[in-house]
Amino acid sequence: MSNTIQQQLTAHMTAQQSGGFCPVKLQSLARTHGTPLFLINEDQIASQYQALSRALPAVKMRYAIKALPEPHVIRKLKQLGCGFDIATNGEIDLLKRCDVAADNTIHSHPIKKDSDIQYALDYGCTTFVVDNVAEIDKFIAYKDQVQLLIRINFRNQDAVVDLSRKFGCVLDRVPDLVAHAQSQGIQVIGVSFHVGSQVPSPSAHVQAIAMCSTLFESMPHIDWKVLDMGGGFPIEYQGPAMDIATFCEPINEALSVMPPSIDLLAEPGRFIAGPSAMHLMSVVGKAQRGARTWYYLDDGVYGALSGQIYDHAKYPIKPVETTPADAPLLPSVLAGPTCDSIDVIDEDKVLPDLPVGALMLATQVGAYSMASATEFNMYRKPKSLWLNQQAIGQ
Ligand SMILES: Cc1ncc(COP(=O)(O)O)c(C=O)c1O
Repeated sequence: MSNTIQQQLTAHMTAQQSGGFCPVKLQSLARTHGTPLFLINEDQIASQYQALSRALPAVKMRYAIKALPEPHVIRKLKQLGCGFDIATNGEIDLLKRCDVAADNTIHSHPIKKDSDIQYALDYGCTTFVVDNVAEIDKFIAYKDQVQLLIRINFRNQDAVVDLSRKFGCVLDRVPDLVAHAQSQGIQVIGVSFHVGSQVPSPSAHVQAIAMCSTLFESMPHIDWKVLDMGGGFPIEYQGPAMDIATFCEPINEALSVMPPSIDLLAEPGRFIAGPSAMHLMSVVGKAQRGARTWYYLDDGVYGALSGQIYDHAKYPIKPVETTPADAPLLPSVLAGPTCDSIDVIDEDKVLPDLPVGALMLATQVGAYSMASATEFNMYRKPKSLWLNQQAIGQ
């Protein structure tokens, strides 16, 4: 038996013992609404936001809408006092629909059309991120209305998603970019960075903050007002992640050298949204192919599990109904419903024999998954439900 299969056997038994959701409640939701069903947990959104805010007490949160652009999530976070990180006009429309004022928003997309800048300004967002001369020049027409942050690139091979591959200037470029903006009469008030999403340790954040601090000191003629540390805060998928309080301790220490006049911002997406949604699916077909049983579910990597492709995530997935403890566990494959063979969720699963109609639950699916779901094969995107812990838990 392979190591992965042995690990899954243990995980399977632990999952059956540990609970965390109530099978009867999930069965009832499936009967009422059908599957696939994307369940967003209001209480978890709040507790993730509060845990991160507690772990970084000096930092103001700007939720990265892209992770899970959902009106209930936006309204809940607004009610809790969270601000928002905008990247597109569509995200601005979502904030408007949720009556979010522009005060605590930042436009963090380093590349924009002129019409995007106008759209954000009409909404009232005045802080923008740039990382090159061409982008700075787009603000000449709006120089009296805007304040810029320069995004710095800190490559990070340890991140699951290295966001500095595509955006950010090298640290040494910052003085030239600031000088260029100033020569055009545009105000630069700070810097931003993103050390990559789902990072295993806080060391990249700590190093980046230290370098930004040295940069601020080396340019005392600039009235620095903002340090925006992006996201990166990790969550558990199939393996453990560092506890958030422990993760943030060295970050707080690194931030402590910043003068109090500097506004410290973070743009968490994954940490808030990821653990806050579960995806309930049904087995719609079953076939024995060689040594493995293939289970075809009513959603897969083209749908609300799309993060397995785009976000390199591997979600914990388990049957909802408990099986007898002595039921044999068999090598199995979980596949999505579309006609494409890339639509395989897990090829190396061990599962008890499941009937067609069995319910399967994927957890930790809130970030970058429903957000990038497609309707390939004209399967509709899964229905979402906004629930509290009581509605799904034991
Ligand atoms: C500019 C920016 N800020 C914040 C985030 C959110 O990052 P995370 O989900 O790691 O918290 C992203 C993710 O792509 C991003 O591009």
